[in-house]
Amino acid sequence: MRFINFDTDAFLRDYWQQKPLLIKNPWGMWRTPLEPDELAGLACEDEVESRLISHKHGTWKVEHGPIPEKRFNTLGKVPWTLLVQAVDHVVPAVAALIEPFRFIPNWRIDDVMVSYASDGGGVGPHFDQYDVFLIQGLGKRRWQVGAHGDGVCNATTALLPHEDLRLLAHFDPVDEWVLEPGDILYVPPCVAHNGVAVGEDCMTFSIGFRAPARSELIAHYCDHLLADLRDDDRYTDANMQAQSQQAGQNPGEILAASLAHLHAMITEKLGDSEAFARWFGQYNSTPKYADKDWAPDTPVETADLRAQLAEGLSLCRNPASRFSFVRQATNEVLLFVDGECFECEQEVAVFAAQLCMHSRIVAGSELAESDTVMALLVKLFNQGSLVFEESD
Ligand code: SIN
Ligand code: CO
Repeated sequence: MRFINFDTDAFLRDYWQQKPLLIKNPWGMWRTPLEPDELAGLACEDEVESRLISHKHGTWKVEHGPIPEKRFNTLGKVPWTLLVQAVDHVVPAVAALIEPFRFIPNWRIDDVMVSYASDGGGVGPHFDQYDVFLIQGLGKRRWQVGAHGDGVCNATTALLPHEDLRLLAHFDPVDEWVLEPGDILYVPPCVAHNGVAVGEDCMTFSIGFRAPARSELIAHYCDHLLADLRDDDRYTDANMQAQSQQAGQNPGEILAASLAHLHAMITEKLGDSEAFARWFGQYNSTPKYADKDWAPDTPVETADLRAQLAEGLSLCRNPASRFSFVRQATNEVLLFVDGECFECEQEVAVFAAQLCMHSRIVAGSELAESDTVMALLVKLFNQGSLVFEESD
């Protein structure tokens, strides 16, 4: 699936992180990559994160997955919606939906959440901290959005009291649209929005992004630095000048020079941009569900992998894996995959950059014949970040 009618440069210039945009079916031909019963099946699985939200007379109820299969027969007439997170990790056709959005870098992409709603169903008026593209997969949904610019929501915005939901106490829509299959609504962070299904079988595919909070960056980077700091790495002041009253000084004063020295003890650590790049790449590429182990039961040997590639089997990135890289000196990159850092040089650096660009590895290419490239492929395969492509 690709866009035939969407100017991504104009979008980034005029809308991204600024204001909502309705993109009327930019695909030419749209076909839902997932059917409602397949989504219901995923919601029944232990390893998949899902929620069922219903509302009646202004009371909102949330049930966390796995949802028992029988529950879908007892929903009755109340408007409800089923939301399943990270469907791209388990359904390749849904993962493929992200590809047209790769004009935004890999490291900003989070996942594809898929929702199904009965007539009138929705999650209620709310705002998210992240950008989202809401693709109407099936059926129709009325989306209303609140103010953008100065009117966006923030930490002080009044919310309804609820254990699980962050619904707005007041919602003043400034625009609304009814989306049909293939239409996309872009909503920037902190812009209030509310989507209500119009008729049955309403499916929405949300391409969600992520942006680290400053607090999160500082906390995690400091934790990382602390792991390597020693207790005997301390402030020193050999050659100190007397600070006594007799010397015309006040011993109560913390001198500017001492403060500068103390502050430098912190800033020189925080200011090491190379160390930061290496840490951030690893941190940011940690998988969404870090506890899930995708490694194959039996690790592959180089010779076997080479033979399988020669037979024509293709490798692709595990859709649940996160790939990105940072350029170092000429012909050198740091490749980050699922929280691991790989230092790559020469042809491996070229290959690593290609791997971050294309989700598929073309077997038999010159690069895959190199021993150093093969060594990287084996490591990535054995940590579950590369998998053999499923044939249709
Ligand atoms: C939905 O798919 O119903 C909710 C998506 C959102 O509002 O972020
Ligand atoms: Co939302």
